[in-house]
Amino acid sequence: MKILLVGSGGREHSLAWALAASENCNALYCAPGNAGIESCAECVDIGVEEIDALVGFAKEKSIDLVVVGPEGPLVAGLADALKAENIDVFGPDAKAAQLEGSKGFMKDLCAKYDIPTAAYGRFTDLEAATKFINEQPGNVVVKADGLAAGKGVIICDSKEEAIKAAEEMLSGEAFGAAGAEVVIEEFMDGEELSYFALADGKTILPLTSAQDHKRVFDGDAGPNTGGMGAYSPAHLMSAELEEKIIHRIIEPTVKAMAAEGCPFTGVLYAGLMIVDGEPKLIEYNVRFGDPECQPMMMRLQGDLLEILQAGAQGRLEELSGKVTWSEKTALCVVMAAKGYPGSYAKNTPINNLDLTMEVKDVTVFHAGTAHDENGQLVSVGGRVLGVTALGVTIAEAQRRAYMAVDMIDWSEGFCRRDIGWRALEAEKAA
Ligand code: AMP
Ligand code: GLY
Repeated sequence: MKILLVGSGGREHSLAWALAASENCNALYCAPGNAGIESCAECVDIGVEEIDALVGFAKEKSIDLVVVGPEGPLVAGLADALKAENIDVFGPDAKAAQLEGSKGFMKDLCAKYDIPTAAYGRFTDLEAATKFINEQPGNVVVKADGLAAGKGVIICDSKEEAIKAAEEMLSGEAFGAAGAEVVIEEFMDGEELSYFALADGKTILPLTSAQDHKRVFDGDAGPNTGGMGAYSPAHLMSAELEEKIIHRIIEPTVKAMAAEGCPFTGVLYAGLMIVDGEPKLIEYNVRFGDPECQPMMMRLQGDLLEILQAGAQGRLEELSGKVTWSEKTALCVVMAAKGYPGSYAKNTPINNLDLTMEVKDVTVFHAGTAHDENGQLVSVGGRVLGVTALGVTIAEAQRRAYMAVDMIDWSEGFCRRDIGWRALEAEKAA
């Protein structure tokens, strides 16, 4: 089979790594890819938003399956454009991608189909939003309806702060068109985890759980980022909780989407708040997480290509019970450019990655990397490397990951030193 993978992050490097290992993978292309992906795929200079060019390339190369990493092109209709040319694609069409693309759409679906989530209101008008905020008994969270690169969520400690956030979003000042509508919801107090499942329009294939670290600094301090590290499985997960997540949230969503005339194909990434042992949906993403995908791919036992193709072709039922995960924990430490998530330098040299091969069960996935004209590996993005390790315990996975991190020579980079801390505390207490 010939595969085209769309994206250029650490998530896509881990997907490329797993796809390339499939015996049915005869050619793997990645658009646009990065310096790490070059080691397992042929990188093609087409941007993720260039829908016509991506479809043209897939036709020209007779691609059998397109796997889409990020949400942007899905919301913009890449899957629709590929299907119109009879090309199999793993990822939802634009209508189904609204689960991530519009927070209001997701909330209305939950309300209609009784899927547990925070109470909410949708507003385009500041006066109505202010009235709603003032009527709420507790604190609220204000969200831009559309895609805002993970930044469109403001957790407010007072009504004044909430009204100000709504005003800045609705005026277009904060997030442009993405904030023209806002969702205001009840603040949920609990512990978070992420759960992933595949869907092919009708059948679901539960995958596994992971835990992200969104804040930039140790101890979960500082501004939100795309994710500074992750581990899988999440320490909060239990068989009982997984059953609840599948039966109360994932399955009803897939049924609801089909009933609404927009069957969902792809990965459902559920961001969940566990409140008194009960899962509540915070948000849906319609793709794998970055960096959550990196530890998940290290735990996956089985053929990713077979799994994603079955998803794209509506055959997930055939895989029921066949996808298994290592019992080990995988943990990914993100190395980012100093200054991220604010401004940062680019084209800074990175050396000694080859030394990390000495550390057992470690894989370094690349995100914002490239080779310069002299062949030197350099950083070209905010999040640059995802150093990922397997361990029998989370402590072992963490020790291996940081051992590899400390071998990498990149003076302009930094990372959190406490990835996995909640799970480590739980492991110690057990
Ligand atoms: P999102 O972009 O929707 O994932 O939101 C970013 C983060 O905001 C989540 O990971 C949660 O930590 C937090 N969050 C979002 N909605 C709520 C809510 N209703 N209650 C508490 N925390 C929330
Ligand atoms: N790591 C968070 C995300 O992928 O959305």
